[in-house]
Amino acid sequence: MLIKNTIFRGIKLLKICVTQKNSFQTGFIKTSQKTVKLANGADIPIVGLGTWRSQPEEIENAVQIALENGYRHIDTAFNYNTEEYIGNVLHKWLESGKIKREELFITTKLPNFGNRPADVEKYLKLSLERLQLDYVDLYLIHMPFSFHSNEAGNGPLKNEDGSFSLDTENDIISTWKELEKQVQKGLTKAIGLSNFNSEQVQRIHRAEIKPVVNQVELHAYLQQKELRDACKILNVAVTAFSPLGSPGANTHFQNKYSYSLNDFPDILGHPIVKELSEKYRKQPGQILLRHLIQQDVIVIPKSTNPERIKANIDLFDFDLSSDDLEKLNALDKKEDGRIFDFMFFKGVDKHPEYPFKARL
Ligand SMILES: NC(=O)c1ccc[n+]([C@@H]2O[C@H](COP(=O)([O-])OP(=O)(O)OC[C@H]3O[C@@H](n4cnc5c(N)ncnc54)[C@H](OP(=O)(O)O)[C@@H]3O)[C@@H](O)[C@H]2O)c1
Repeated sequence: MLIKNTIFRGIKLLKICVTQKNSFQTGFIKTSQKTVKLANGADIPIVGLGTWRSQPEEIENAVQIALENGYRHIDTAFNYNTEEYIGNVLHKWLESGKIKREELFITTKLPNFGNRPADVEKYLKLSLERLQLDYVDLYLIHMPFSFHSNEAGNGPLKNEDGSFSLDTENDIISTWKELEKQVQKGLTKAIGLSNFNSEQVQRIHRAEIKPVVNQVELHAYLQQKELRDACKILNVAVTAFSPLGSPGANTHFQNKYSYSLNDFPDILGHPIVKELSEKYRKQPGQILLRHLIQQDVIVIPKSTNPERIKANIDLFDFDLSSDDLEKLNALDKKEDGRIFDFMFFKGVDKHPEYPFKARL
């Protein structure tokens, strides 16, 4: 009975609605894409541009091409080191009047070495300075676990044995309370979470200002059905990071952390994805993205390649049939499909807020 009532209440609470929107209009650009209504009333474009691992020399061009092709949602983070370049392009577009600030949806994130009340405003203001903006649309706690900061304040502190120095003194609730203040100060329109498990989302959700988004790894091999259901009940929208399976991330893990994942997946190359790509005459990446947006999941594919940037938002002229959606649903490997368990941060699984079950 209790479960039934909870589900019923959840369905009543559910306000995430997806609408076809034609209102992104600028001087000479008119685009049409779906948006998802967030709990704070804002409309987030269902496709955004991811920017992790985008190189400094490519990122300005990528943002320029993305804006020209109708992207209005950009995802970044303090520690991607892309905010400054994104800011340069946004500034030009805003100053020239080609776009209005309210047409954009910009997300950035508090770094895992700034997860403490005293640091929240400092990092948000640094991000705003780099982005050349007065406010962001969404500010996320990047990860639920915290590290001590290095002396320069630009990275996590490491111990002598190479493990990361865990900060277990600051709890996520007190950090969240500080994020709430940033909404009240007008430095961000909304606040949210990233890489939080369902218990952690529920815990934060008791706060006065609710999280509007949980951004998590989500693709055909890790479909996060249970987490998505838990978020739906709380009216927390889900954004899929690495929606294409993050090809190339393994090289990055190897170069940066001397860490590598066994059997790094090639989701774009899966025979079912290839079969559907031929059937619909769409690229494998478009099939994977369509699979998610057709279920109202927000996606933020990263690309700096002009053709792929265009393809990744060209998703609104076809529908996958329910049989084909089922074929893609069947690719879910659940926890075995997870790429980002963050074990490249040596020792992170010892943090009390580590969100995943340690792999056997
Ligand atoms: N919150 C978090 O902890 C977290 C973690 C990871 C990522 N993210 C966010 O999510 C975004 C996306 O995730 P991601 O960058 O890990 O992975 P992704 O978007 O799944 O994949 C990006 C990779 O796929 C390639 N690619 C892009 N479009 C393609 C297409 N249509 N066909 C074939 N290959 C394509 C890109 O190369 P080219 O650039 O050469 O096209 C790039 O190497 C990030 O950029 C970041 O903004 C957040």
